[in-house]
Amino acid sequence: MSTQTVSRVLVTGSTGFIGAHVVDNLLARGYSVRGSTRSAKKGEQMKAARPQYADKLEFVVIEDFTKIGVFDDSVMDGIDAVIHVASPFFYDTTNNEQELIIPAINGVKSILSASAKPGSKVQRMVLTSSFASVVDVNTTPPPGFTYTAADWNPLTYEVAADPKSTSVEAYRGSKKYAELAAWDFVKNEKPQFDLVTLCPPMVFGPVAHPVPDIKSMNESNSVLWSVADGVDPLPGARVPAWIDARDLAEVHVQALLKPEAGGKRFLAASPEPFSYEYAADIMKEKFDWAKDSVTSNYVAGQKPSASYGVDGQTAARELGVTYRSFQDTVVDFVKQVKETIL
Ligand SMILES: NC(=O)c1ccc[n+]([C@@H]2O[C@H](COP(=O)([O-])OP(=O)(O)OC[C@H]3O[C@@H](n4cnc5c(N)ncnc54)[C@H](OP(=O)(O)O)[C@@H]3O)[C@@H](O)[C@H]2O)c1
Repeated sequence: MSTQTVSRVLVTGSTGFIGAHVVDNLLARGYSVRGSTRSAKKGEQMKAARPQYADKLEFVVIEDFTKIGVFDDSVMDGIDAVIHVASPFFYDTTNNEQELIIPAINGVKSILSASAKPGSKVQRMVLTSSFASVVDVNTTPPPGFTYTAADWNPLTYEVAADPKSTSVEAYRGSKKYAELAAWDFVKNEKPQFDLVTLCPPMVFGPVAHPVPDIKSMNESNSVLWSVADGVDPLPGARVPAWIDARDLAEVHVQALLKPEAGGKRFLAASPEPFSYEYAADIMKEKFDWAKDSVTSNYVAGQKPSASYGVDGQTAARELGVTYRSFQDTVVDFVKQVKETIL
């Protein structure tokens, strides 16, 4: 499908970590952006921080995705394409199915059905899925194995939603079953738009959304910051792969703009494996204060090794994106937190 006539894009999750970078990337290219948010205040703060885009950026408040049908007609008015980023991403849950899985799936169903209504001009939907819907954490892959966008996490809905399962497991299920709901919708309903799904692993980097204090930092960056803050022992990386949020925003926008991306699923990941030990080494090397605050209770100076590969190169090649180094990401993020958030 050609997306050459796209002028106004709806970005859900626009006041979150990844969504705000997507908003900035679109604005910098001259697109008009309607961001959905649960918080009018965060929308106002985003707008106030971007006075040069006053006439290109607007926000709509969308109620919680646990209710179907939250994207009413006025939200979709004049929208040519959608980047659906929003989904619950936190592990501090009391009811995994209600707080993680159902909102993720209902959010996808809501935005897809609103975009497929008669009269809709939506040409393409880009969905932020996750490497969580790709990786099988319970099996050790054979030596030399590389995950690609053809792989699916075998986790069942029943296990993900089981009250005895951890919130991490439930989050993995929320991403898998939300993404599957999107592919099923397109297959069964044959809407006028096509779908692209993106499966990034851990996402790190400086923030572009309102973060009033370090306690309000998004989940993935919070773990990275805990290293700078002296957590001991260092966390273990759940997956050895990562991507910078600014590169991931570029992946989203290229996935929206490249006609040939339609109908595809992409793994978006840097080729460089990471570990929190590697992050600790970088912080100590680049910031004098970190020599005291970052723990020494680990084996320093080891390059991270990964027990499997993650094919981020197909996305890089087909979408024309390059990946930053882990060092640049860590330095830019830590500097920003130290100088503007603490
Ligand atoms: N960060 C990572 O490492 C990572 C890795 C792979 C995939 N992802 C995916 O990337 C997306 C964004 O994550 P993020 O890292 O940017 O996290 P984030 O900062 O927590 O953003 C999540 C966004 O989703 C919105 N949201 C959450 N629950 C919602 C609900 N019930 N109803 C309506 N909106 C809801 C939030 O809205 P408000 O702004 O209004 O609170 C927020 O904008 C998610 O789909 C996540 O699964 C993240």
